[in-house]
Amino acid sequence: MHEFQYKDGMFCCEETPLAEIVKEHPTPFYLYSHKTVMDHFNKIKDAFKELDPVICFSMKSNSNLSICKALVNAGSGLDIVSGGELYKALKIGCPPEKIVYASVGKTEEEIKAAIKKGILFFNVESTPELIMIDTVAKGLKKKARVTIRLNPDVKADTHDYITTGTKEKKFGIDFASAEEIFDNANKYPHVELKGVHIHIGSQITETEPFVASVKKVLDFIEKSSVQIEWLNLGGGFGIIYEEEPARTAEEFARALVPLIKGKGLKLIMEPGRFIVGNSGILVCKVLYVKTGATGKKFAIVDAGMSDLIRPSLYEAYHRICPIAERKAKTFKYDIVGPICESGDYLALDRELPEVLAGDYLSVLGAGAYGYVMASNYNSRPRPAELLMINGEVKVARKAETYKDLVKGEKILREIK
Ligand code: LLP
Repeated sequence: MHEFQYKDGMFCCEETPLAEIVKEHPTPFYLYSHKTVMDHFNKIKDAFKELDPVICFSMKSNSNLSICKALVNAGSGLDIVSGGELYKALKIGCPPEKIVYASVGKTEEEIKAAIKKGILFFNVESTPELIMIDTVAKGLKKKARVTIRLNPDVKADTHDYITTGTKEKKFGIDFASAEEIFDNANKYPHVELKGVHIHIGSQITETEPFVASVKKVLDFIEKSSVQIEWLNLGGGFGIIYEEEPARTAEEFARALVPLIKGKGLKLIMEPGRFIVGNSGILVCKVLYVKTGATGKKFAIVDAGMSDLIRPSLYEAYHRICPIAERKAKTFKYDIVGPICESGDYLALDRELPEVLAGDYLSVLGAGAYGYVMASNYNSRPRPAELLMINGEVKVARKAETYKDLVKGEKILREIK
């Protein structure tokens, strides 16, 4: 359940109708519900409590400082993928011993900064990276804690771009090479090889792929020549966008906890989408409605692929809810943005009660991989991020201005 629902015909965030919010805040904007973020975090925490996992919210899904800080305050750690995310994580006071760092391309500088701060784990994705971490740690006269990211070669039923756990993908290390690393652990005296990590993909709505990969990994742990203390399960729990049968946190836990329980392993989890996906919406305004030569109706809105790229990039489905229910004849609309690309849309062939210029629409499920993937394409300032907290709407990040669009740029003397 989330806090974006119709109440008496008005689409509301918690108890406040969007119709009131758009009077105060120009569109487009993202709006998050603090209550939903906390509810979803607690759902995972409660479901897996038997294993007492370190939950590291995957901040690539939403790195808004207020949201990340709220989660850290609630006891979450953070899963990071870059020096920039390390910077933001530390800025909001996330304890370094609750930060885990994945990415196939960590630079020497990024590794150095993370070792200096004493993060919990590097999730290592290749042997050359392991050598780099060992070398950097040596230079700093420190020991770096490491888990090896295993590629379990399990296919999850999700979009190809967000499948990561099959052997043809760039992520992780195959079992044979990982075994070699553990067997030769003494080659890396400046790292503590403590555990294994998996992340098989994102928006996975079935439990089977997780079960299959955990079984393979447990098998690997059992046979390993090194005592493995930590198991990092990654993220990937899917959510409901349309009608898909997403699983609850309890269902995921029911499938996974019995496999892991009693094995003496310390657990890490890296959920992103499950916590924030349905905790946020993108609100936009209909600028024009036009009918094409084929009779197709277009609702042209003031948000586009620069604000929310998921439909264009993954053909992702996002529910569209007008902010006031209208009892009118329905039509099929393509909800499109102002950007000069045919792929710029938020929804295709969507049946809605008649849409008129000036209407406001909410795009649901925009809390994960929404703002973080926004760009300035077509020189469009990125939208504001608002947070509903304690019944009030607060500006967690201001909308960019035209000045922001030219920040850091100069017209070169040679051109003048
Ligand atoms: N851990 C690792 C190592 C990851 O690569 C990811 C996501 C997560 C955790 C969090 O996964 P989640 O719980 O959010 O599924 N932009 C795409 C999703 C990319 C996911 C990248 N990795 C989208 O909009 O669907």
